[in-house]
Amino acid sequence: MPSPDLILRHTNLPDGRTNQDVAVTDGRIIAVESHLQGTGAQEVDCQGYLLSPHFVDPHFHMDATLSYGLPRINESGTLLEGIAVWGELKPTLKADAIIERALTYCDWAVAKGLLAIRSHVDTSDPSLLAVNALLEVKKKVAPYIDLQLVAFPQDGVLRTKGGISNLERALDKGVDVVGGIPHFERTMADGAASVKLLCEIAAERGLLVDMHCDESDDPLSRHIETLADETQRLGLQGRVNGSHCTSMHSMDNYYVSKLLPLIAESGVSVIANPLINITLQGRHDTYPKRRGMTRVPELMAAGVNVAFGHDCVMDPWYGMGSADMLEVAHMGLHVAQMTSQKGIRDCFDAVTVNAAKVMHLKGYGLDVGCDASFVLLQARDKIEAIRLRANRLKVWKKGVLLAETPEVVAALQLPNRPPATRFMN
Ligand code: FE2
Repeated sequence: MPSPDLILRHTNLPDGRTNQDVAVTDGRIIAVESHLQGTGAQEVDCQGYLLSPHFVDPHFHMDATLSYGLPRINESGTLLEGIAVWGELKPTLKADAIIERALTYCDWAVAKGLLAIRSHVDTSDPSLLAVNALLEVKKKVAPYIDLQLVAFPQDGVLRTKGGISNLERALDKGVDVVGGIPHFERTMADGAASVKLLCEIAAERGLLVDMHCDESDDPLSRHIETLADETQRLGLQGRVNGSHCTSMHSMDNYYVSKLLPLIAESGVSVIANPLINITLQGRHDTYPKRRGMTRVPELMAAGVNVAFGHDCVMDPWYGMGSADMLEVAHMGLHVAQMTSQKGIRDCFDAVTVNAAKVMHLKGYGLDVGCDASFVLLQARDKIEAIRLRANRLKVWKKGVLLAETPEVVAALQLPNRPPATRFMN
């Protein structure tokens, strides 16, 4: 074998293998073995830390990010006031400002090892200002982030005059995925009609679908059923995602026992957004207050691919966040009570492999032939990574080092760790 460009020695891998060497040439993984022979042009001793494929955020709103407080703060904290604040901000938006904020966020993302993001972009405005801005951002960040855009009719594709034409024009311009928001249409019937129409548009154009679906506490909001049914009718299995699906938290158990197999059979994936669901849902409750997040472990047990998204960072809906998908996974495991060892590992997968599957990312993973796009975490395994929201020591994209963070000395790890990770000064 010719000398590899890069060898990462002594890594632990997410599948549980320890002390593995990973060799990289021309931006791709060419070998994963213990005690790999030969020498790389460059070598890194990973000291038994976890090497993971990079983080993936399958649900985000990059056109709104970092706009917190513009033009005012969402005082009630509800989804609906967030939509109202965004509506007040939209007429004053400038493309340059959207691009600037998005690029700042992308810098944060790279530092956190987050190298693929699916962002919804609001298509309700006929000028498509935000669409044009994010298409520009997509081009600018392409060398380091896979930015996939979803045409998202925030104000309802049927509820907004010209909603369908605006969405189709966004797709014509190169937006990748068809979005929707059936629970925000004026009636349940309009919501179902919007799902049917949008899935037909996706089928005709050969595109993926990702709808905000049933983002409410209303147990009778059942658009996920229509989405799964339309997926089967149009042969879109494996190409459709339902985002949020928070109403499922409040649905009747009998109905859910019928719904889960339908979602699984349809190959529809589901994205929960733990940080946002736990803060936006349950706002009409007194006590007890519902958590609002969809039924993550039950969906996983039924064979549905479930991923976690960040959804919002410092925008009209959420004033917190830092592009840290381990924080998302950490909240997800708490809200879903996924505290078993398997449950915690599943939460790590929800921000890596499961999310990559939703986005249909090519070359993702740690197998030979995959892109050498990964993050070295200051943690030994997936469980410790989530517990510590572990430091990102190094982030590579196709073999190129993009970001580094110094090792934390007092790393709060258990005592039988190598000296470098222990408090020594
Ligand atoms: Fe969203």
